[in-house]
Amino acid sequence: MSRAWTPDRWRTLVAHQQPDYPDPDRLDAVEQRLRRFPPLVFAGEARRLKAQLARAARGEAFVLQGGDCAESFAEFHPDTIRDTFRVLLQMAVVMSFGASCPVIKIGRMAGQFAKPRSDATETREGVTLPSYRGDIVNGIEFDAASRIPDPERLVAAYHQSAATLNLLRAFAQGGYADLHKVHKWNLAFVNDHLGSRYNDLADRLDAALRFMAAVGLTGETVPQLRETEFYTSHEALHLPYEQALTRVDSLTDTWYDCSAHFLWIGDRTRQLDGAHVDFLSGVGNPIGLKCGPSLQADELLRLLDTLDPAREPGRITLISRMGADRVATYLPPLVRAVRRAGRDVVWLCDPMHGNTHKTASGFKTRDFQRVVAEVQATFAVHASEGSQAGGVHFELTGQDVTECLGGAQAIDEHMLSDRYHTHCDPRLNAAQALELAFLIAEHLAGQREQQRAAEAS
Ligand code: PEP
Ligand code: CO
Repeated sequence: MSRAWTPDRWRTLVAHQQPDYPDPDRLDAVEQRLRRFPPLVFAGEARRLKAQLARAARGEAFVLQGGDCAESFAEFHPDTIRDTFRVLLQMAVVMSFGASCPVIKIGRMAGQFAKPRSDATETREGVTLPSYRGDIVNGIEFDAASRIPDPERLVAAYHQSAATLNLLRAFAQGGYADLHKVHKWNLAFVNDHLGSRYNDLADRLDAALRFMAAVGLTGETVPQLRETEFYTSHEALHLPYEQALTRVDSLTDTWYDCSAHFLWIGDRTRQLDGAHVDFLSGVGNPIGLKCGPSLQADELLRLLDTLDPAREPGRITLISRMGADRVATYLPPLVRAVRRAGRDVVWLCDPMHGNTHKTASGFKTRDFQRVVAEVQATFAVHASEGSQAGGVHFELTGQDVTECLGGAQAIDEHMLSDRYHTHCDPRLNAAQALELAFLIAEHLAGQREQQRAAEAS
């Protein structure tokens, strides 16, 4: 690439998975408007997250990234935001208290709208229409008018992201996330299944907080006890939108994509010479790269050279999503190549996207056991390769949905239709998500124990 990077250089390259807008002038006018809207996040916050991720790359912290597969206009509600935030808080407390390890919390929230699709069109009963690409592009209803990409949706997505982020900031810093409220975070339907386990942990945490208060450490003196850091993320798929929110940081004079703190490149748009890789190569945010089974080790190393030539700590997070049965074959060569190249990255495990299947009745689902199996297999690969499992990436919601099979509620195929609300992929519900957090906490605690034993000997 000879021309110097600019936020619009991607336009000279092939951009996969972009909507076909019938009226490009209208899109252009909307982009002009978006360029004048305030940034959603501040570059300094993205740098702070990058520094946190550098800690995770060194094995000093663990990342929890989670939220909807696709946010939607229909599900936009303060309770939905609160419940997803709350289950992430619960999971983080289970992991950080259970394993004495700091947890970096990143929501797939406040901007996770655009979806890549396997097929550009969808056919039902002989009628073929453009595929649904997320509420930021078109409507999910199967009729010709809804499926036409509408640029005005970019503005609606921006406003919903701004309002969501505003509430998340209030929850994180306004008292909701105060560790003294850990008992109150529990949800009724989770209580039926994991309540005693969670409440037991919350009791122990309360006791620890009482001890700290006795020695003078309270929410007044230690802000970390009464507020939390929470970051936002989404797939940087819709490039006109991302470009419009990319701004020069006045402190460093460099470009940041201010639509979220953390942005990732999807498994379908990670072509080395493609538009998405080029776009994210030029912004200063910490970035993620989805690594599916088709990614070759040499290709990954070239992507790292392009996306992180300066080898900046915390810049790159690799999110493996192989499928439970494929981890042992496809992940080790990638982990090995990255280690040999002397690159410090955060490795996250996404146990969702390689484990999706359709039931006979037509529901896209995931089996809790396979999700657990991918997490375990991934952790095992990192252990045997002398690498670090730096965190996890889940599609989840705080709602009591029935989208993934199994877990403590023993959701079976017949129950899927009860509360199947996702706009794209099936999400773990709060009970399933919390159950996973306990499993991960146990694993992390075991790992810490081994580290301590090794240090002591
Ligand atoms: C996603 O995270 O929703 C997604 C589409 O993932 P992937 O790119 O890994 O398929
Ligand atoms: Co998904």
